[in-house]
Amino acid sequence: MSGGDKLDFEIRPNPAPVSAAERAALLADPGFGRVFTDHMVTIRYADGKGWYDARVEARAPIPMDPATAVLHYAQEIFEGLKAYHAGDGGVTLFRPEANAARFTASAQRMAMAQLPEQAFLDSLRHLIEADREWIPAGDDGSLYLRPFMYASEVFLGVRPAAEYLYVLIASPVGSYFAGGVKPVTVWVSPHYTRAAPGGTGAAKCGGNYAASLVAQAEAIEHGCDQVVFLDTVERRYVDELGGMNVFFVYDDGTLVTPPLTGTILPGITRDSVITLAREAGHEVVERPVAFDEWQADAASGRLREVFACGTAAVITPIGRVRFPDGEFAIADGGPGEVSMAIRQRLVDIQRGRTDDPHGWVHRVI
Ligand SMILES: Cc1ncc(COP(=O)(O)O)c(C=O)c1O
Repeated sequence: MSGGDKLDFEIRPNPAPVSAAERAALLADPGFGRVFTDHMVTIRYADGKGWYDARVEARAPIPMDPATAVLHYAQEIFEGLKAYHAGDGGVTLFRPEANAARFTASAQRMAMAQLPEQAFLDSLRHLIEADREWIPAGDDGSLYLRPFMYASEVFLGVRPAAEYLYVLIASPVGSYFAGGVKPVTVWVSPHYTRAAPGGTGAAKCGGNYAASLVAQAEAIEHGCDQVVFLDTVERRYVDELGGMNVFFVYDDGTLVTPPLTGTILPGITRDSVITLAREAGHEVVERPVAFDEWQADAASGRLREVFACGTAAVITPIGRVRFPDGEFAIADGGPGEVSMAIRQRLVDIQRGRTDDPHGWVHRVI
């Protein structure tokens, strides 16, 4: 099974899946990241052997030696994407090749083995085939797919591991923010930064999120939904949110978003929004936005809308901004027209309700 890009997956159906009645009850209100499906995919890697033992099996705990490298040195990366019901009974994914490419880039940055991108894509298809009954019906629901990989070698020592385990699990989800699309309040962290130049900000590694949690907790203490990180060097320019990229919409219709300089995650939603906004006739500029400029433009009314974007939250308007010295609103604090129009176009493409001129929708079933 090793070598080449194409792995053979052994399918071992879960002998004791959740009953249809229990599944229906779980799908009625799945929340986000609380409910999991019957199966998982695992693929192993060892130096000198390559990728082997690709299988779909019952989702179950993974026994781990206490000296497993990931528990000590945090060599771990992940991805997140959603599967949707297509209108005709099929199932689709949105730009999964982009997630596969980002997984490779994250693995490179973290000095990990690189799973062939075809195997990544095949793993998604196999899990969806096994767990398709878990995709929620309805306009908000989707099956969130969580591919991840960690250093599974049993050793203590600071060097890249020689063994890795790739795992894919799935979780039926509703809206990321409770209450659907309503503007959120964000907290601009005065103390904590997320990623320095030359660091791991552009990689989707667990360590970035571990480091962000204290800032996210501070945001919640201040009654905010999400934290905004400023840059590490000057503590002045907006990088991104804890789990989303950010866009600013000005009164002349221009959209501005921080550039990809290696300190922020290159979001697939961010990239899609840039394309869709340009198609809708907006100018889109990738440039640094200073926090003082954000405040001044909100005060003058030149800044009309701000929104966060990512797979989990799609496009979420930012209505208020809080920081240690005060607080301000963006326009009237309500959802902006431009944000909501781009959101609608994006969601319609993702859910197969409209044309897909960029070939972003990938049919799985
Ligand atoms: C830190 C961070 N930024 C941005 C994003 C948005 O990325 P994407 O649009 O690919 O989901 C995410 C979510 O994955 C994230 O965790």
